[in-house]
Amino acid sequence: MNSVDVLVIGAGAAGMMCAIEAGKRGRSVLVIDHASKPGEKIRISGGGRCNFTNIHASPKNFISQNPHFCISALSRYMQRDFIALVERYGIAYHEKTLGQLFCDGSSTQIIDMLLSEMKKHGAALRLATRAERIDRVDGGFAVKLTDGAVRCQSLVVASGGKSIPKMGATGFGYEVAAQFGVRVVETRPALVPLTFDQNTLERLKPLSGNAVDAVVSCGKTKFSEAMLFTHRGVSGPSILQISSYWREGDEIAISMAPGTNIFETLRTARAQNGKQALQTALSVHLPKKLAQTIAEELGMTSHLADLSDKQFRVAESRVNGWRIKPAGSEGYRTAEVTLGGIDTRDLDSKTMAAKAVPGLYFIGEVVDVTGWLGGYNFQWAWSSGWCAGQAA
Ligand code: FDA
Repeated sequence: MNSVDVLVIGAGAAGMMCAIEAGKRGRSVLVIDHASKPGEKIRISGGGRCNFTNIHASPKNFISQNPHFCISALSRYMQRDFIALVERYGIAYHEKTLGQLFCDGSSTQIIDMLLSEMKKHGAALRLATRAERIDRVDGGFAVKLTDGAVRCQSLVVASGGKSIPKMGATGFGYEVAAQFGVRVVETRPALVPLTFDQNTLERLKPLSGNAVDAVVSCGKTKFSEAMLFTHRGVSGPSILQISSYWREGDEIAISMAPGTNIFETLRTARAQNGKQALQTALSVHLPKKLAQTIAEELGMTSHLADLSDKQFRVAESRVNGWRIKPAGSEGYRTAEVTLGGIDTRDLDSKTMAAKAVPGLYFIGEVVDVTGWLGGYNFQWAWSSGWCAGQAA
């Protein structure tokens, strides 16, 4: 049986970072992945340009049952550390918006950089290989792979979450946790489009493809970013963000012309030109189709002169205080990440080691630490991977 110091399961962002760091410490490292290529999620991320971190990343951008858990890792390996690595490789990048850093060229530059660092520090990579069985043995673990068996002192689970099963996502990490008695916080799709019931969809179908800058809130949490109507419901950054906080049965509130006092705008428009239709006045602040749908839905298709202040209040609340109860989400099929995962109570926040299982580590998305949209999830993968790499 082959023997290595560190076996990493999953050649994604977290697994590759961990392998590099363990390799730097002189550990013999093998990374396996059941996919035929490494870092597939990096490749498709950020529309092919990989939003690899966020300048403003801090613990408040992460969701977990224990919001303090991520503090140590995020401060030990910070966004500036990853940016420095990207710069050392001469990879050009830019800030798109809200501190989000993207490659100017292609996300494959990030994958190539990680592979090149792995090679430099002696970490081996074996693709199209799955772990089939893990046994605890003296001094570590014996892992049966589809193409042989490996013994290791440290076993690092970096197999990601359940999102996008078509790309090879599995519940593997949670099964390993169950095998070793490590607790798992219930998982659910996050950063995912929300869907409407059939009746609502019938009414809103014509809006599919229209986008607005919106403020979307659920309870006390709100996000101010673009929103897109889809043929299933709503999507766009503000919706993906709020989806991580939304639960079945919750209403979300949407302001589609934030910062504009629609009531006063309509009164002014009526005073200036009473023959104008409501939809025309609204279309100054909203896409035409949306303005038309709202006017029709409210039954306010007459001239502004024929509409009362009370009706303007109703229009104001439909535009800037639209409350709607999504029927569900698009699920793991399109979710960017998985909320929940390995319970952080059972992990050491400095090393990501399972407290009760010496030598076992969990890193990246499989852990119950989920970032907002905007480069935060990769930062968690780099930071948690780096930490495990110092210890495994
Ligand atoms: P990741 O999923 O990357 O890697 C896990 C690896 O384990 C995979 O290669 C998988 O094949 C392998 N694996 C799984 N089960 C296995 C098994 N049983 N045996 C062997 N191998 C196994 N984040 C961000 O910060 N910026 C962005 O721009 C984007 N964009 C984005 C777009 C889309 C479409 C998605 C789906 C996601 C994003 N994300 C993102 C989220 C980001 O991709 C995600 O958080 C990280 O890839 C998580 O890194 P991990 O290494 O933890 O898992």
